[in-house]
Amino acid sequence: MNMYRDVSTCNTYNYGDALYWDARYVQEAGSFDWYQRYSALRPFVRKYIPTSSRVLMVGCGNALMSEDMVKDGYEDIMNIDISAVAIDMMRRKYEYMPQLKYMQMDVRDMSFFPDESFDSVVDKGTLDSLMCGSDAPISATRMLGEVSRLLKPGGIYVLITYGDPKARMVHLNRTVYNWKIELYIIPRPGFEKPGGCSTSMKSYLEPVQITDTGLLPADLVLEDPDSHFIYVCKKTEDTDINNIPGYPLAADIPMRETLVK
Ligand SMILES: C[S@@+](CC[C@H](N)C(=O)[O-])C[C@H]1O[C@@H](n2cnc3c(N)ncnc32)[C@H](O)[C@@H]1O
Repeated sequence: MNMYRDVSTCNTYNYGDALYWDARYVQEAGSFDWYQRYSALRPFVRKYIPTSSRVLMVGCGNALMSEDMVKDGYEDIMNIDISAVAIDMMRRKYEYMPQLKYMQMDVRDMSFFPDESFDSVVDKGTLDSLMCGSDAPISATRMLGEVSRLLKPGGIYVLITYGDPKARMVHLNRTVYNWKIELYIIPRPGFEKPGGCSTSMKSYLEPVQITDTGLLPADLVLEDPDSHFIYVCKKTEDTDINNIPGYPLAADIPMRETLVK
């Protein structure tokens, strides 16, 4: 199966639709990790999420990410997905791993969980799916409002996405959430620089400066034009969760994504 597929072809498929995902998981038993495997993400995950954390994996699909995290020492991962097919499959598969729990749930309404009930939320490709659905900006705001509500003060939201800061910061950098955001950029798995030499992993481990207007520095050139972005958002201690609206206030939030990067 192609490791490099992403949701940038979302004008063709309705990635925001539960029926689409159910049909897909009926066809595709087994497992698939979008964008990156845990081994590549491990330095970032381990840096920001202690293994004792209560973790929420949003839109887990049938990825191996959570299993790999447990094998790496994580003790408590709640996995949710809108697809009942994926959740049934995963719950049966991981019956023997008590560290993993599964619930069918829409990330836009996680009212089942009380406020401030997770130390960390991990999202690999799920906000991206919503950005490809109908009512994309409303869905994104609902989801991120819920993520913010569920994080404990000091908690961390790790977003792994194909969306660059121009597309994502408008959603993440809202005063109501008051998140402190760090950005990392990593190439697709298997990417080779033209000429064959590869950049050392060390340079990817340095955060990239985001400008005051939420953009990449003008002089930054991406080695891999289809890089993946990792946003590490820390909920500051003084965020007032009672102020988080369930729908966008700003009329200037971009509409549904149809971009091909
Ligand atoms: C691009 S896949 C990523 C799957 C997995 N996180 C990975 O890294 O391989 C997006 C996942 O989000 C789920 N999803 C889409 N909309 C959702 C929603 N509103 N609530 C919860 N999950 C949703 C889909 O069912 C799918 O499993």
